[in-house]
Amino acid sequence: METGMSDISKIKPVATAVDVVIMAAGKGTRMKSKLPKVLHLLAGRALLQHVVDTAAQLSARQVVVITGHGATEVEAALSGNTGATGQFDLNFVRQEPQLGTGHAVQQAVPLLRDDGIVVVLSGDVPLTQAGTLQHLIAAAGADKLALLTIDFADPTGYGRIVRRGDVVQAIVEQKDATPVQREITEVYSGIMALPARQLKAWLARLDDQNAQGEYYLTDIVKFAVADGVPVVAHKIADATQVAGVNSPVQLAELERAYQKQTALHLMEQGVRLADPARLDVRGQLICAPDVSIDVNCVFEGVVRLGEGVRIGANCVIRNAEIAAGAVIHPFTHIEGGQPGSKDAVEIGAGALIGPFARLRPGAKLGEAVHIGNFVEVKNSTLAKGAKANHLAYLGDATVGERVNYGAGSITANYDGAFKHRTVIEADVHIGSNCVLIAPITLGAGGTVGGGSTLTKDTPPGALTVARAKQVSIANWKRPSK
Ligand code: UD1
Ligand code: CA
Repeated sequence: METGMSDISKIKPVATAVDVVIMAAGKGTRMKSKLPKVLHLLAGRALLQHVVDTAAQLSARQVVVITGHGATEVEAALSGNTGATGQFDLNFVRQEPQLGTGHAVQQAVPLLRDDGIVVVLSGDVPLTQAGTLQHLIAAAGADKLALLTIDFADPTGYGRIVRRGDVVQAIVEQKDATPVQREITEVYSGIMALPARQLKAWLARLDDQNAQGEYYLTDIVKFAVADGVPVVAHKIADATQVAGVNSPVQLAELERAYQKQTALHLMEQGVRLADPARLDVRGQLICAPDVSIDVNCVFEGVVRLGEGVRIGANCVIRNAEIAAGAVIHPFTHIEGGQPGSKDAVEIGAGALIGPFARLRPGAKLGEAVHIGNFVEVKNSTLAKGAKANHLAYLGDATVGERVNYGAGSITANYDGAFKHRTVIEADVHIGSNCVLIAPITLGAGGTVGGGSTLTKDTPPGALTVARAKQVSIANWKRPSK
């Protein structure tokens, strides 16, 4: 069970190789941000990353990203996309200056092989589903121009789909449209698919004789019509799939749309959400049956929840594997490293965590471990049944089964230069407010008296106390004026 956004398994893949061109050179002035627009995050991933990930789902042979404004930053942010998201070549081409969408795609021409189908996408339109693009590619076939279109009650600003009868004749931009054309509600989404060979021929014929003095990619529709190449409009109804991000408001709206879809998918799988409007998944949340999640939880990276896991309100959980029956009480913060790495956070079956617990990278908790309020665990392994219930720190520690770690106790793991390990063997009972100065090993079954500061290993089975002896002075008179 995963929170996938589309099911493309049912659509027959086309035999022709797919090359994806993503336009991402525009400025994004309305974001009012130093960060290039396409690097703003939606559900924890850059807008452009969403588009690249969708291209990966199309089994694209190549993805060409057209960069311009903030090119260096954009290219650096995306350069990690090798095999992880799919097997394709990722290439960047710079467009300087930016003379329009037709000019943008012209920059990709040297990289496009004649035998492919080209899909043109925009880096600021993040939520197009791969299934929709598969349909568009199928509609283009080997010899047609396929446009993704949609009806908008208010089409202002978009290119209008001009038809004669049913047959598409042209796309006319808002600024070039006649009053009659402006009444047309079917608009071009900015997404098209067509054979590379034809795209190249038509791009060579573009000019900038229009209201904006730009090279419009949309002018190729006229050339297709003139050349007798069929133009098919694949119209969809879901505006979210073609929605672009131009402003913080639009970004927030799309974030909500995405989160709503994610919540619906989870609930369809049986996950119980106290309120689907108060859930944020910024990564992958994978749930076994009978998981329940209270309000205001944020999931980041890859989080796996086992059967019957309960997550309390206001938890922030990044990269964690939580086994069946564990309960994460409210206000718990978990920040694991990459799944499978030594920094991953793992929580055993039936463990009880929080409220107000903090699990940092490398916290590996066994079955039925209890971590209570204001307890911090970092790079430590706790075996089955170990408990640290109140106000404590465990860093770089190996803790045995059934250990009881008292309130206010800490591992002093850092000497200012190096980190050292604390080993607490099985069945040790550590009183409150102890300081365990690492490196140190506490022998199995031992007891440590409250308030002890330990600098040396302790023998198994013994009571160890390391604090000043209590003295009482009888009839003590306090000073008086
Ligand atoms: C474009 C379409 C319009 C369509 C609309 C859908 C054209 C001429 N018009 O208009 O028909 O309804 O998208 O949103 O194509 N970009 C570059 N280099 C450039 C110009 C743009 O990379 O020189 C990129 C932008 O960063 C953006 C995308 O291309 O990602 C679309 O550009 P934008 O300016 O938003 O196009 P519109 O004028 O909205
Ligand atoms: Ca636009």
